[in-house]
Amino acid sequence: MRVVDTEGQSVKFPGSHILSITQFERHDIESVFAVADQMAPYARREKMTQVLDGAILGNMFFEPSTRTRISFGCAFNLLGGKVRETTGFESSALAKGESLYDTARVLSAYSDVIAMRHPQAGSVAEFASASRVPVLNGGDGANEHPTQALLDLYTIRRELEGRGRSIDGLRIAMIGDLRYGRTVHSLSKLLSLYKKVKVVLISPKELSMPESIVEGLREAGHDVVVSDELETNIRDVDIVYSTRIQEERFSSQDEADVYRGRFRINQSIYTQFCQPNTVIMHPLPRDSRAQANELDADLDNNPNLAIFRQADNGVLVRMALFALVLDVADKIHDSAKPVPWYTGGR
Ligand code: CP
Repeated sequence: MRVVDTEGQSVKFPGSHILSITQFERHDIESVFAVADQMAPYARREKMTQVLDGAILGNMFFEPSTRTRISFGCAFNLLGGKVRETTGFESSALAKGESLYDTARVLSAYSDVIAMRHPQAGSVAEFASASRVPVLNGGDGANEHPTQALLDLYTIRRELEGRGRSIDGLRIAMIGDLRYGRTVHSLSKLLSLYKKVKVVLISPKELSMPESIVEGLREAGHDVVVSDELETNIRDVDIVYSTRIQEERFSSQDEADVYRGRFRINQSIYTQFCQPNTVIMHPLPRDSRAQANELDADLDNNPNLAIFRQADNGVLVRMALFALVLDVADKIHDSAKPVPWYTGGR
C-alpha cells in the first residue's frame, strides 16, 4: 500500500478531505460545532432542508459499522442529498483485486463526496489521494476515526455546559483497548489543541496508548497518568470514556479474550468510585456479552450515561462536515420548511 502523509495538511473548508484530526486547528473545531448546533432542528425532524438536493454521497464501508455508516447516510439525507453505498469487500471489486486508486478514480465520478471505512491504517488517505471529490475518513484500521473524535468533543462540550466545566481544564479517563482503539487515538490528538487537560489512560499494559500519542499529550502541556488500575483512577475526572477490546485487530479470538471484562463499570462501581456527576461515554458498540459487560445495562437509567446522546450527536457533526466541505453552511435554512409527517418525541 502506498503511504500518504496527511500530517500538516490543514483542513480548508470547502473541498478538504477529512482524513486525520491533526488537520484541525481550534478555530476549525469551533466552525464545525457552530454549524452542528444549527443542525439540531433538522435532526429532530422539526424542519427539513433540501440544501443538498441532487448531491450524492458515496458511502463506502469495507469494515462493519452501525453508527458511522448509518449516521453519515442519515446526515446526508437530512440535508436533502442521496446516498449510494457498498458494504464489505465481497460486494465490491476490491475482492477481484482492484486497487484503491482505480476504485477512487471511478467512484469519485459517481459521487459529490465520499465517506469511507477500511480495515487498513492509511487506506483512506491513499484512496483520497486519487479521489476527485472530498473523502471523509470513517475509520482506517487502528489509526484514526476523526469524525468520531469531533462528535466526542462536541458531546463533552455539551455535557460539561451545565456542570460549570469546559474543555480547557478537562479531566478525562480513557479506559480499555487504547492500543487498537482508533477513537481514543483521534480524541487524544484533538485534546492536544486545548489547555491544561488531565488525561488518565487506563488499559492492560499490552494494550496501552501508542507512545507517540502519549508524547503528543505531554508536549501539549497536559497532565498524563498511565495505569492498569481502574477504581483509584476514575475518582477525580469529569468524563470516563470506556472502549471495547478491538477483537478484530487481534490475531485470534483467544488472544482478545484474555482482556475481555478487565475494566467493567456498573452502577455500584460508579457510585463507589466516581463523583456523582461524572459523565460516562463510549463510542459504541459496547460489548454487552456477559464475559465483557464493559458498561453494565444497570447504568442505562443513570442520567450521566451519555452514550446515546453521543451517538445522536454524530448526525449533527456529520451534517456540519458535509455542509462545510460542500460549502453550503450558509444556505442550510434557505430551503427550510416544516416536516409534514408525524415525528414523535425525540
Ligand atoms: N462508533 C463507531 O464507530 O461505531 P460503528 O462501528 O457502529 O460505526
